[in-house]
Amino acid sequence: MPKTIALYLAAIVLGSSLVWWVANGRDDGQMATEEVRFALRQSADIGFSALRPLTRQDGLDTAQVALGRQLFSDTRLSKDGSIACVSCHRFEQGGADGLPRSFGVGGAEGVINTPSVFNSDLNFVQFWDGRAGSLEEQVAGPLHNPLEMASSWAEVLPRLQADAALRDAFASVYPAGITAETVAHAVASFERSLRTPGAPFDRYLAGDASALSPLAQEGYEKFRDFGCISCHQGVLLGGNMFQKFGVMGDYFASRKLQPADLGRYNVTGREEDKHVFKVPSLRNVALTAPYFHDGSAAVLTEAIGVMGRFQLGRELASEDVGAIAAFLESLTGRLPESVEAP
Ligand code: HEC
Ligand code: HEC
Repeated sequence: MPKTIALYLAAIVLGSSLVWWVANGRDDGQMATEEVRFALRQSADIGFSALRPLTRQDGLDTAQVALGRQLFSDTRLSKDGSIACVSCHRFEQGGADGLPRSFGVGGAEGVINTPSVFNSDLNFVQFWDGRAGSLEEQVAGPLHNPLEMASSWAEVLPRLQADAALRDAFASVYPAGITAETVAHAVASFERSLRTPGAPFDRYLAGDASALSPLAQEGYEKFRDFGCISCHQGVLLGGNMFQKFGVMGDYFASRKLQPADLGRYNVTGREEDKHVFKVPSLRNVALTAPYFHDGSAAVLTEAIGVMGRFQLGRELASEDVGAIAAFLESLTGRLPESVEAP
């Protein structure tokens, strides 16, 4: 088993650095289409070998998960008690909210599309620009974001500590009681329980060829052959590398640039990180329209066409788009049991 893991990690590192190098490593700023294509093909082979069925996270403490579940729906985490995590990350909407941008406290409109919380523990970093390294670290993000929950630990903790029942519940699980660390840990534990195994594609990978329709199988082949898998790879079909949005063309040319469009550049300040984003997971993607960091693609077929054009440099025929959509629909898994109300 350690050997497989080592191989898997090597594949990720190799795959991502290869595409990154060809796409960004050239100092003339001009990308050579053939070279990118070649690198994508190489990386596709690696991406293919890194696919595996999604499984549950074992070894979670059910009491911690239950506390996290409760906090995830607790509006006391927001400034005016109007918003909870679940307001934007809805379980019945694939862990997102179906909006191009969410609305936070006081109706403030966010600046970027809400990604799914499902399977997020398997992302190599959190957020579109990767600015949080772990789920624990991530929790403070929405809490402090003026466009989301607009609060702070200094406001939230006394409010939670004043609740005797919650205080007891915490004390029996965490000796330290209610602190920023234990709240973050409980929420992150709940998030680790939000895996969605059992998708048709997982059954297919496990050997059940009939789990995918012929159309979805055709889409899977195209997903590999065209090179989508060079970037959307690993168990999440994404979530394991950064890539530029617009490798093969300027996606942002025809629109007014927003700060969020700069992606990872906002974290590193490095020129080569402009428009670079975490490659999103495609698990449950059929449930999480609209797509992209800007919520600009209303439906899956539109997103697939944009990817073909700007990430692969090819106009996809509508039959190909349809087949790939059928494949992506096979990535919808089972709703985690831990989302049932406590
Ligand atoms: C007002 C809507 C809103 C609320 C409330 C909210 N989120 Fe989010 N969440 C977002 C948006 C938007 C992003 C993407 C932000 C970015 O990438 O810059 C995000 C990103 C995330 C991510 C990263 C997922 C990924 O793939 O990178 C996680 C995990 C997450 N939120 C969990 C939470 C938790 C836990 C809470 C409650 C403490 C919460 N969210 C509250 C809108 C919201
Ligand atoms: C060079 C890397 C790369 C390739 C190749 C690539 N993608 Fe992407 N994909 C990305 C990145 C980066 C994003 C995030 C773009 C953004 O929103 O800023 C993305 C986003 C997406 C999304 C939207 C997901 C969401 O939750 O918003 C879908 C769907 C998608 N890709 C499917 C595909 C398909 C299908 C192909 C092949 C036709 C493909 N991708 C090829 C890097 C790539």
